[in-house]
Amino acid sequence: MIRVGIIGLGYWGPNLVRCFSDLENCKVTAVCDQSRDQLLRIKNRFPGVYPVESFDELLDRDLVDAVVIATPTATHFDLAMKALEHDLHVFVEKPLAKTSAQCRKLVEKAGERNRVLFVGHVFLHSSPVKKLKDMIDSDELGRINYISSRRLNLGPVRKDVSALYDLAPHDISMMLHLLGQKPYSVSCSGFDRLNPGIHDVCNLTMMFEGNRMGMVHVSWLDPRKERVLTVVGEKRMAVYDDLEQEKIKIFDKGIDKPASTTGDFAEFQLSYRYGGSYSPYIKEQEPLKAECSEFIRCIVDGDIPLTDGINGLNVVEVLEAADISLRSGGQPVEISQLLEAEQSNRHGVVR
Ligand SMILES: NC(=O)c1ccc[n+]([C@@H]2O[C@H](COP(=O)([O-])OP(=O)(O)OC[C@H]3O[C@@H](n4cnc5c(N)ncnc54)[C@H](O)[C@@H]3O)[C@@H](O)[C@H]2O)c1
Repeated sequence: MIRVGIIGLGYWGPNLVRCFSDLENCKVTAVCDQSRDQLLRIKNRFPGVYPVESFDELLDRDLVDAVVIATPTATHFDLAMKALEHDLHVFVEKPLAKTSAQCRKLVEKAGERNRVLFVGHVFLHSSPVKKLKDMIDSDELGRINYISSRRLNLGPVRKDVSALYDLAPHDISMMLHLLGQKPYSVSCSGFDRLNPGIHDVCNLTMMFEGNRMGMVHVSWLDPRKERVLTVVGEKRMAVYDDLEQEKIKIFDKGIDKPASTTGDFAEFQLSYRYGGSYSPYIKEQEPLKAECSEFIRCIVDGDIPLTDGINGLNVVEVLEAADISLRSGGQPVEISQLLEAEQSNRHGVVR
């Protein structure tokens, strides 16, 4: 039985306590938050857990085999590093850390200690994204031209990180996973209205090898909640709307470009395909519960998670490049530039 401790019981942490408590092969033995009120709230709902106010106390008391870190982003690195140094398995909410240099250190430490380092890219464990990935890999959508997404709502507004760091990790993680590669270049523009320097609205563009593109629009300053990801393939197009009952819709639509035989421009004609649409069957499963279960399975089976430290690092590299672009007026930033800048500190993280 894996003993789990959940750190951070604000907005998101209680959901993790509930999901881990529902699993059979683990037990939530401790919870930790600096706020006594948050601790009391959880203690009342889950009387069997041991509440502690300090993370150091949790580590010193030998209460857990694994920790789940659901505190603000700026605290992720220190807490995760301490936990790994105590030989604990670690689940860190997205994003893994603030910088790619920090992510690399965590990846190294997890390897050194032979512990599972798992990142909360929850959508990669969800049934709709698994379905989309299967369809892309089996060529049902054809060659993918681009993926776009909108993650919008009115609030909740963060003061510690921008909408880019808060919301876009979900979309970036899905796009990298679906396309099976990292972008080589990133550009980002945005708008900071509520707190100077903390962008409320961001538009991120990622360029991938093979002339493929990913576009992400995130905002907490929008009248309507939207959670939509569109995959445009040569054969078919797919729309994943996380707020709909039927989450994925496949459209048999496209524009075909016949090869010109003579090179005569007059002969060049686009043919539009206006086929029907359908919603494939998708097994219903709460993504967060699937994610928690996968963390425990990887610990028990000694497997490398899909959302491991390298996966977390790849997403933070995009965020970091996007942030540089955002602060330089939307200039494209090559991901390799980040690596070159970090090279002196690197110790060969390879996958
Ligand atoms: N996967 C998702 O869909 C999802 C959704 C929301 C938030 N999150 C992530 O969860 C994390 C937390 O977000 P939130 O909205 O719950 O934040 P929050 O500010 O509501 O809660 C954070 C909690 O952490 C506690 N805390 C801070 N530093 C601590 C420390 N050193 N030791 C112990 N407790 C400490 C605070 O007292 C607070 O109760 C973030 O990384 C966020 O990106 C993920």
